[in-house]
Amino acid sequence: MAIRLINVVGARPNLMKIAPLMGAYGLDDSFEPVLVHTGQHYDANMSALFFEQLGIPRPDVNLGVGSGSHAEQTAAIMQAFDRILDADRADAVVVVGDVNGTLACSLVAAKRKIPVVHIEAGLRSFDRDMPEEINRILTDSISDLLFCTEQSAVDNLVKEGARLERIHLVGNLMIDALMSHRQHAEASSILEDLDLIAGGFTVVTLHRPSNVDRREVLSRILDALEEIGRDGPIVLPAHPRTVQRLQEFGFHKRIADSPNFLLVEPLGYLEFLKLMANAAVVLTDSGGIQEETTVLGVPCLTLRDNTERPVTVSMGTNQIVGTDPEKILRAYRSVRSSPREPSSPPYWDGKAASRIIPILRTAFS
Ligand code: UD1
Repeated sequence: MAIRLINVVGARPNLMKIAPLMGAYGLDDSFEPVLVHTGQHYDANMSALFFEQLGIPRPDVNLGVGSGSHAEQTAAIMQAFDRILDADRADAVVVVGDVNGTLACSLVAAKRKIPVVHIEAGLRSFDRDMPEEINRILTDSISDLLFCTEQSAVDNLVKEGARLERIHLVGNLMIDALMSHRQHAEASSILEDLDLIAGGFTVVTLHRPSNVDRREVLSRILDALEEIGRDGPIVLPAHPRTVQRLQEFGFHKRIADSPNFLLVEPLGYLEFLKLMANAAVVLTDSGGIQEETTVLGVPCLTLRDNTERPVTVSMGTNQIVGTDPEKILRAYRSVRSSPREPSSPPYWDGKAASRIIPILRTAFS
């Protein structure tokens, strides 16, 4: 009998991780994959567009939970996912990343004694103010198989007492996706559409509650961006939460009045990849973008006080700069004047999915 794996996605950053894995299952008839979308992200440009561009099959089920508080979202996913497992046989549940659905579905599965596979296990920011850190710690503690992207994650899991035979350093599925779509992304007309010259603009992404939910923090970040804007265009594809906050705090006008600020809708995967690859500098509070810029060799300034992905600093292009405008500007000026070097941490070679597949086959057949 084929191995029936229930795979869970919910939010945008899950999609570039599941895409290479769904592709790899498709090449192997040992597997019968089922894809469940929790519905946490529901806007077309936060979800459906990524399915289309990344070639992810349509979800078999959409739990349709939508937005809400963490408790509401997590509870709604748990209840709906529990009903899916009532109706369906599962040899294991595969969760990726650190969003609310990652924790909700692993908790439901573990209590039903269905093995949990966590992809991107072991990452730790050691900052429990981040809701994702809680999701990571709890998911890892009830997972049966822990697939890691970097050595620091393996070390964290070992320190927390995870059994060695459960941990596998396999590389990074997000980099698998990047490598297989890089060429295709080149065809995007995003630079012409936004009237940008390769190497002559800055890309910014901001969505963490710690940065956008507090007026004074967001204002400080905008101070730095306004200064950077003197050098050339700044493109900010804004996450829905950021758009809401900019409006609430009355900052929309501040951006509209800055001639070099391009506030745009969230972009598709291919458009954003092309934009990032051609940026002079990327400023971000995202996790995945720290990894993608490392492989692309584009300087990345992370607008946070920590990272759960330290290999992007030790081997990559990432610098942790926080939200103090002086510090951001100092780092910006220094990277603008230094040469760029792409770098690949161990196993970030586009083959993570092909390392994961045989481990799953052995574990569940
Ligand atoms: C979630 C993840 C975060 C990830 C981010 C990527 C958790 C705890 N957080 O945060 O780790 O980095 O996704 O984007 O799971 N909204 C829309 N349309 C949508 C989705 C959301 O308008 O399709 C709005 C809603 O008003 C919502 C807000 O965006 O309140 C935030 O969405 P939410 O699902 O709460 O989490 P994210 O901030 O996106």
